[in-house]
Amino acid sequence: MKKLALIGCGGIGAYHLDHFLQFKDLSLAGFCDVTVERAEGFAKKAGQGRAFADYLDMYDEVKPDMVFICVPPTCHGNIEFETIKRGIPFFVEKPVALDADLTREMAARVKERGLIAASGFQCRYDNINDAAKTYIAGNTVLTVQASRVGGIPEVPWWRNKFTSGGQLVEQTIHQMDMLRYLLGVEPDTVYSVAGRGWIGQKECPGYFTDDLSTTLITFKNSVTATMMTGCYAKNGVAWESKMSFGARDSRMDYVLCDSVTVYTEGNKAAAGKSASVIKGDGVQDKDSGEYTEITRSDVDFGLLCDRTFVDAALSGDASKIRSPYEDACKSVLFTLACNRSMKSGCPEKVVY
Ligand SMILES: NC(=O)c1ccc[n+]([C@@H]2O[C@H](COP(=O)([O-])OP(=O)(O)OC[C@H]3O[C@@H](n4cnc5c(N)ncnc54)[C@H](O)[C@@H]3O)[C@@H](O)[C@H]2O)c1
Repeated sequence: MKKLALIGCGGIGAYHLDHFLQFKDLSLAGFCDVTVERAEGFAKKAGQGRAFADYLDMYDEVKPDMVFICVPPTCHGNIEFETIKRGIPFFVEKPVALDADLTREMAARVKERGLIAASGFQCRYDNINDAAKTYIAGNTVLTVQASRVGGIPEVPWWRNKFTSGGQLVEQTIHQMDMLRYLLGVEPDTVYSVAGRGWIGQKECPGYFTDDLSTTLITFKNSVTATMMTGCYAKNGVAWESKMSFGARDSRMDYVLCDSVTVYTEGNKAAAGKSASVIKGDGVQDKDSGEYTEITRSDVDFGLLCDRTFVDAALSGDASKIRSPYEDACKSVLFTLACNRSMKSGCPEKVVY
């Protein structure tokens, strides 16, 4: 059986392990964490595999056929370069790095080696994307309004922008990535402003990051978008991660990992057209005639994302991977341009 290894046995590592336990055609051969007790805990849960504190030892001894890299954002670079050198197909969690030059260098080396590599943008595997893409193909989208507001994640590295990249780069990158994926066009320019000062040291020791930011994005096809994101919400008073795509005579609300709702004008032709191309529950308002079509998320997209990479590594055919490494690097560079803009106070070009 082919051997899978995992580096970084923390929160997201556990999420992937739950998926691996459903894959009966693989040997879960090695788990690595600098805190070796975590790796031992994973091996125990898997009921197989060895624990390591150093990935080089794991590579030398286990000789994995594929690896999942699930370390914090600042821990990238050496692991990937060694993995590429050894020609091991890898899946790496987003964001692939916090440094633009490092991101480009790693992408170039993966390409040069022709290695199968993917990143953890699992939202790309959600079934709601079929409805969203159908809508975008059939309607001229002019603008997008998007947001994500929640609380502060538990992991200590998240609270410092130097170690997390900030919320837009670490978390809201899922939506920034989906904007690229759904619109099928690249961003051109971003202008981002950040706000701080509402969350203090007393409330959250070690907190040195933005409480919120708002970004104006122009895409290469002249579509404009805004993305507001914040981690200030207390007691679960979060917003849904919604992106509203506006066309002249229709609108699509895309709620990440949840649903797609399409609103069309009240005439029968529009309603009929919408109903025939988009699956889901249709509702027509009796008074206004406005037609609403809803598609709900009903697949385990995280599981699909992992399995797609595993299948690619097993077969050597990467064509089904929806978030290839080089493309994931572009989403990172997109969000890093936003950070540059927050710092410079000026609009910044997105440079890949
Ligand atoms: N795709 C998603 O939806 C999603 C969700 C959560 C986190 N993430 C991403 O996953 C990454 C990890 O996040 P997390 O929440 O699991 O963090 P975490 O802190 O819970 O876990 C990271 C683990 O990596 C280990 N580690 C660090 N450097 C290492 C090294 N050189 N070798 C071996 N182990 C090392 C740490 O000891 C820790 O156990 C982050 O980049 C985060 O953005 C993605």
